[in-house]
Amino acid sequence: MKQKIQEINQEINSFSPSSVEEIEIFRIKMLGKKGLITSLFSDFRDVLAEEKKEFGQVINTLKNKVVEIIDSSKLNFKDKNIRSNSIDLSLQHEPFFMGSRHPISLIKNELYSIFQKLGFSLSEGPEIEDDWHVFSALNFPKEHPARDMQDTFFIEKNPDILLRTHTSSVQVRSMENDKLPIRIICPGRVFRNEAISARAHCIFHQIEGLYIDKGVSFADLKQTLLFFSRELFGSDTNIRLRPSFFPFTEPSAEMDITCKLCGGKGCSVCKHTGWLEVLGCGMVDPKVLELNNIDNKIYSGYAFGIGLERLAMLKYQVKDLRLYFENDIRFLNNFKNYL
Ligand code: PHE
Repeated sequence: MKQKIQEINQEINSFSPSSVEEIEIFRIKMLGKKGLITSLFSDFRDVLAEEKKEFGQVINTLKNKVVEIIDSSKLNFKDKNIRSNSIDLSLQHEPFFMGSRHPISLIKNELYSIFQKLGFSLSEGPEIEDDWHVFSALNFPKEHPARDMQDTFFIEKNPDILLRTHTSSVQVRSMENDKLPIRIICPGRVFRNEAISARAHCIFHQIEGLYIDKGVSFADLKQTLLFFSRELFGSDTNIRLRPSFFPFTEPSAEMDITCKLCGGKGCSVCKHTGWLEVLGCGMVDPKVLELNNIDNKIYSGYAFGIGLERLAMLKYQVKDLRLYFENDIRFLNNFKNYL
């Protein structure tokens, strides 16, 4: 038996495979059912009791040695394979899939750059707000029906803590904290308890603007909005302002632009009026300035609020607002050509 062990040991020491197949043949020869080392284990039964310990150790060491050699030879071959592949310059590269920006981000970035040209800076605030910043400081009296226009989500039945219904709350925070003059745009998510449909959602995005300085007039507001509309929709775009109501602006207006689809002639999209509604705006109500400790005899201002989903619908001709929130890759792929 000693003789047999010596022979096996020699064979193991001289094993140097030249292919993966040879390693497998060697493994079967040593460790297979009828393998040399397997047979040593069956011979072990006949070994004298006092020699069992010594033999046992020798056989086990031999087995471990074989397993180790097989493993390291396999690794060696794998390594060589990888190395030779890594310098194969003729291999085709993996296709590289470019993502696209979300249309709401696209329109937001475009508005940033337009208003930046006019000297507006960015201002952001919290989505969970209190009654003061969303309503009271903006001249919404308690129990006033105007609050119903903004179906509010309250948090934990506490009527003072709520999800902001517009980013005008950021304007209040700016009037509280910033030095005059103020010229800001406030982007962000807003929340209203509305049924989800093709034209409405309970979450949407706004950019609101506020400009307060000495001698700001309605003419400034109108010129700013005309500039913005032409930058975004093209130089042939016209605007019109219709009287409206918001508790925090006086006078208030809603702005329409000429319909992009029919050029103002009238079509089904503009309901044959030639005009599309885009935003709400107005002169900051002197009462709001007073509530926010700004001297309304010296300062005046204007404000406007733009819904980004609606704007992106007009710009990219999206017919269903829900598409913005589903993140369906087939929808998003349509925006690959925009930066
Ligand atoms: N905050 C208004 C809204 O969300 C929009 C608006 C802003 C209107 C500023 C006028 C002036 O409905």
